[in-house]
Amino acid sequence: MPANPLAPSWLSVPLDANALVDTVWSQNAARSAAGELTVAGVPASALVATYGTPLYVVDEADVRARAVGIRDAFDRELTRVGSSAKIYYAGKAFLSVEIARWMRDAGLNIDVCSGGELAVALAAGIDPAKLGLHGNNKSLAEIDRAVGVGIGAIVLDSIIEIERVADAASRHGRVQPVRLRINSGVHASTHEYLATAREDQKFGIPLADAAAVVARIRAYDSLEFLGLHSHIGSQIFEADGFAEAARRLFTLHAELLATGPVPELNLGGGFGIAYTSVDQALPINELAVKLADIVADTAAEFGVPVPVIAIEPGRAIVGPSTVTLYEVGTIKDVVVSYGDDAAADAAVRKYVSIDGGMSDNIRPSLYGADYSVRIANRSSSAEPALVRVAGKHCESGDIVVHADYLPSDVTPGDLLAVPATGAYCWSMASNYNYLGRPPVIAVRDGEARLLVRRETEEDLLRRDAGLDAS
Ligand code: LLP
Repeated sequence: MPANPLAPSWLSVPLDANALVDTVWSQNAARSAAGELTVAGVPASALVATYGTPLYVVDEADVRARAVGIRDAFDRELTRVGSSAKIYYAGKAFLSVEIARWMRDAGLNIDVCSGGELAVALAAGIDPAKLGLHGNNKSLAEIDRAVGVGIGAIVLDSIIEIERVADAASRHGRVQPVRLRINSGVHASTHEYLATAREDQKFGIPLADAAAVVARIRAYDSLEFLGLHSHIGSQIFEADGFAEAARRLFTLHAELLATGPVPELNLGGGFGIAYTSVDQALPINELAVKLADIVADTAAEFGVPVPVIAIEPGRAIVGPSTVTLYEVGTIKDVVVSYGDDAAADAAVRKYVSIDGGMSDNIRPSLYGADYSVRIANRSSSAEPALVRVAGKHCESGDIVVHADYLPSDVTPGDLLAVPATGAYCWSMASNYNYLGRPPVIAVRDGEARLLVRRETEEDLLRRDAGLDAS
């Protein structure tokens, strides 16, 4: 079958529009003998019968395995180069009480970047010493609570914060371990990285100013300087951006070692995952080998010992674990012109509208992110048709899947599954148009259980003060 001319060039017509490409789907996603999507042995239709749609379905074993896999890979590779690794799960990707406990069980620390994320981690019973706090504008209350509970590390992001954290530490009678976030001038995304002297962004301290700032940190008895921090971007497929950042940071790291201890170096997160069949993410074992080699080579170049390497992956741990299930409501074949001859050069784009949208996955509208889609409740041998999966919001940019092929007999009432929605979907969900945020359920060994319930109309109205006045 020829490609639809409206399809993007990277998308080819699949041989089987029911197939689940294993780089994109969670480890325990499969089709049953009857052709239905199952996650950890639970059929999509059974999940929907109990929990409704839209629904985030987390393959629990997949998350746990990736968390342990990252820990093992980095432990092994950093040990190989004579050091050790400290892994923080970046909670901003997807955090609930249960997910925080899965990370603890996998031996990971957790990175939080607001009082709210800190509250979730604490409510989960996570040892505060295993938490790190980020943010370019932490409030005094957030700093006070973090220091007060004994948080393991705070990443200082500006000069103003040094005194704020030092004061809080003195008040609580603590010596607070801190890192300093550096604006390294390296910014990476997917296959490319940009390296400038100074990146035009809000995070961190310019490399050139950092030595003086560290001297100020070290001057406080209530602060313990752990080391430098850099986060160069997100959804990164290659290691070269990390290599450049490491090279830049080591210049400073080595200089700082001459005047005091610098036990750690934090390289941030950002490891990419596959969203569509053409995305080729670096396997985590290979990434660990490369990063360990990079830091070992750079440390040798500068004649310093390899520090403890901290990393903060979010997406790579939870991203591939989750599928979002939706129900198809309406379908329209829209004739679209694409060439110079408006009458002759036209093709059909099938708009398939689902019962969620930009309120449960803002990434396609916000970043132009691509996702893929499959019919979940059945398989079909109908010819593939190019589809665009649209949400139900009052906005034309409300798209969940810009382009994929589905069996052309897709019909209202079918369930659709969008894979790789574990990172930055639920965590960025909104109530736009007063849609309630969908529930999160975990499936494991044939059993499903609720992690976060669906938001109800009552929830949506609860904060509206107008009701109290009536
Ligand atoms: N560490 C720091 C300091 C960060 O700012 C981030 C992400 C991470 C770690 C985790 O990055 P990851 O490994 O998950 O890529 N909402 C965007 C992503 C924003 C990432 C913000 N910071 C998205 O949906 O693609």
